[in-house]
Amino acid sequence: MAEAPQSSVVSVEEVPIDHENSSKGVIAKVIINRPEKLNALNSDVVAGLKRICSWAEENNHVRVLVISGAMPNPPPEGKRGKPNSFVAGADITEFVGSDSNEIRERFMDNAIERVWNLSKPTIAMIDGFALGGGCELACSCDLRIGSTRAVFGTPEINLGLIPGYGGTQRLPRLVGLGCAMEMILGGEMVDAERALNIGLLNHLCEIDELEKKTMEVARNIGSKSPYTIKFAKSTVRESLELPLSKGLEKEAIDFANLFDSEDQTIGVKAFLERTEPEWIGK
Ligand code: COA
Repeated sequence: MAEAPQSSVVSVEEVPIDHENSSKGVIAKVIINRPEKLNALNSDVVAGLKRICSWAEENNHVRVLVISGAMPNPPPEGKRGKPNSFVAGADITEFVGSDSNEIRERFMDNAIERVWNLSKPTIAMIDGFALGGGCELACSCDLRIGSTRAVFGTPEINLGLIPGYGGTQRLPRLVGLGCAMEMILGGEMVDAERALNIGLLNHLCEIDELEKKTMEVARNIGSKSPYTIKFAKSTVRESLELPLSKGLEKEAIDFANLFDSEDQTIGVKAFLERTEPEWIGK
C-alpha cells in the first residue's frame, strides 16, 4: 500500500471507515494548508492535489475523499485574524505577468479536473470562503457539506476574468442557469443558507457539527461495495453527457452487468439472511 503523498501545503490523513481498523478501507481526508492566504490554490497546492488524486485512484484501500481547507492560525498579538476558508480561489499573485499561452497550459491539466475525474466518491467540506477556484473545486466534488460560515462565489468578473476551473460548466448544472448566471455575471457572494436553497450544498451544519456530519456521510458511502460505487458514480455522471434515451440505455447495461458481480450476490444474500454484507470489491 503506497504511502499517501504529503506536502507542507496539502496533507492527507487516512481515517478508517469502521473506526477501529483499516481493513474496510479508509477515508482520505485531504487538507489544503495555506491558511495565511485563505488556502488559495498556488502551483504547489495544485501539484500536491494532483499527486493525491493519483495516489487515491491507484490505492484500493482509499474509498472516499474528503477535501477541506486548514483552519486559520491564531493571529499574532494585536493583529487581525484571518477568516476561515475552504479555498479563496486561484492564487491571484501567480496571475501577474502571465500570458494566455502560460495560462492555457496551466489550466488545461489542472487539479480540479483530476478531482472531477476520480472514480471514487469525493466530498467537499466547506467552512468559510469557497471562492473562484474554491467554489469550482467544491463543484468538482460529488457532494458539498458546509457550515453556517460557508460562503460561495465566483468573483472572477471583478478581476476582468471568467471562471477557469470549470465553473461556467459545472455550476449551472448544479444550481441551474439563472443562479449560475447571477453568480458569474455579478460576482456577488452567496451565503450558506442560499447555497443550500439553490442546491450548491447537500447539507448545512452548525460549525461544531460540520466534521461529524461530513465523516458520517463519508463513512456511509465508504461502507458500500467499492465496485458498485464506481458504477453508481460513473452511471450518474453519464446523465451530464448523454441524451436521456442514451443515458437510460447505459443504465440498463450497467445495472444488468452488476448481476455478474460477486458483490451483487453478497448484497442480495445478506439482505435475505438479515446479515451485514462483507463486500469483496468485485
Ligand atoms: N490569491 C492570493 N492571495 C489571496 C487570495 C487569492 N485568491 N485570497 C486571499 N488572499 C490573501 C490576501 O492577499 C491576504 O494576504 P496578506 O495577509 O498577505 O495580505 C490574505 O489572503 C487574507 O486575505 P484578506 O483579503 O486580507 O482577508 P479579508 O477577510 O479582508 O477578505 C476575501 C477575504 C475572501 C473577501 C478576500 O481575501 C478576497 O476577495 N479574496 C480573493 C477572492 C477571489 O477573487 N478569488 C478568485 C480568484 S480567481
